[in-house]
Amino acid sequence: MADPMSSSDKIVVSGFRHFFTTADGDVQATDKVDLTIRSGEFVTLVGPSGCGKTTLLKAIAGFIRPTEGTIHCDGKLVQGPGRERGVVFQELAILPWRTVRRNIGHGLEIAGVSRAERDKTVRRLIELTGLTGFEERYPHELSGGMRQRVAVARTWAADPDVILMDEPFAAVDAMTRLTLQEELARLCAATRKTVFFITHSVDEAVFLGDRLLVMTRRPGRIKAEIAVPGRASGRDWESFTADPEMQGIADRRDFCGCFPASGCCCPSRRWSCSGGRSRLRPASPTRCWSRPRRPSPPSCAWWIPGCSPNMPAPACG
Ligand SMILES: Nc1ncnc2c1ncn2[C@@H]1O[C@H](COP(=O)(O)OP(=O)(O)O)[C@@H](O)[C@H]1O
Ligand SMILES: [Mg+2]
Repeated sequence: MADPMSSSDKIVVSGFRHFFTTADGDVQATDKVDLTIRSGEFVTLVGPSGCGKTTLLKAIAGFIRPTEGTIHCDGKLVQGPGRERGVVFQELAILPWRTVRRNIGHGLEIAGVSRAERDKTVRRLIELTGLTGFEERYPHELSGGMRQRVAVARTWAADPDVILMDEPFAAVDAMTRLTLQEELARLCAATRKTVFFITHSVDEAVFLGDRLLVMTRRPGRIKAEIAVPGRASGRDWESFTADPEMQGIADRRDFCGCFPASGCCCPSRRWSCSGGRSRLRPASPTRCWSRPRRPSPPSCAWWIPGCSPNMPAPACG
C-alpha cells in the first residue's frame, strides 16, 4: 500500500490492478501499481504499447473502476469522473461545428459560467496557447497542431486541479510537437496544475516532467522512477538538448523496452535541433553502437537510417 496521504498528495493510487473481461476470458491490463502524485507536480509515464498506461489514466479519471485497489483524489475515493480532473486524449475531443472560441468555452457554458467570465478565461487561454487571430475559425480550418491546442485549452478552461493527458501530441508532426511541448511547459508554469502525462517519447517525458515513471510491458507495473530537476525555471528545446544532465536522464537504461520494436534502447531515437529548429534531424546513430553489448543482444528494428532488423542492440539492462 502507498504511504498514508500527506496534505500535498493530490492523487494516490494504492494497489491498483486491472483486468478487462472479454469473450476470450480476462485480460490483465496492469500489474499492481502504487503511485502518489503531489499537488502541482508534473508526472510523466512512459511504457511499451499495451502495458496499461491508458487503463491507469482512465481509472484516475474515473472512467473505469479498478478491479483491485483504490484511487484517491484530494483524499476522496474516486468513484467516477469529476470536475477536478480534466482529460486530454490523443483523439481530438473538439466539436467541429463550434468555433475555436466556443470550443474552448464549451465546458464553461455547460457549467453556467457568465458570458463575461467565460470570455475572460477563453481570451487568456487563446493567448497562452498561441491561437490569437483564430478565435472565430472552425476546426476544419485549422492545422492538426492548432486543433490539439484547442483541445488542451478547452480542458484548461474548466480549471480542473488535475489534468490527465494521454499521448496528446502523438498525432502531430515532429516540428509541431516541439512547439506544443514548449507551449505546454509554459502553460503549466503559468497555471501550476497537477499533471499526469502519458507518452511513448522519452524525450517528451523528460522535457515536460518533474518526475518520470517507467512501466514494464503488460501487465505493466512501475519499474523505475526518475526525478527531473529544474522544470520550475522553465524549459525550451534549445537549452534542453544542450544540457548534459537532461541528456543523461534521457539516455538512461530504464527506458529499455519502452519502444515499438522492443529490444533496442538506442539513444538515437532522439531528434536534435540545429539551426534554430530549421533543420530537425535524428541524432547520430553512431552513439548507439559505441555502447557495450550484451552476450546475446536482442535484435534492433529501429527506424534509424542504416539500422537493419538484424543489427545487435546495445546493452539494455
Ligand atoms: N476495453 C478493453 N477490453 C479488453 N481489453 C482491453 C480494453 N482496453 C484495453 N485492453 C487491453 O489492456 C491492455 C492495456 O491497454 P492500454 O491501457 O490501452 O495500454 P497502453 O495505453 O499502455 O497502450 C492491452 O493489452 C489492451 O489490449
Ligand atoms: Mg494508450
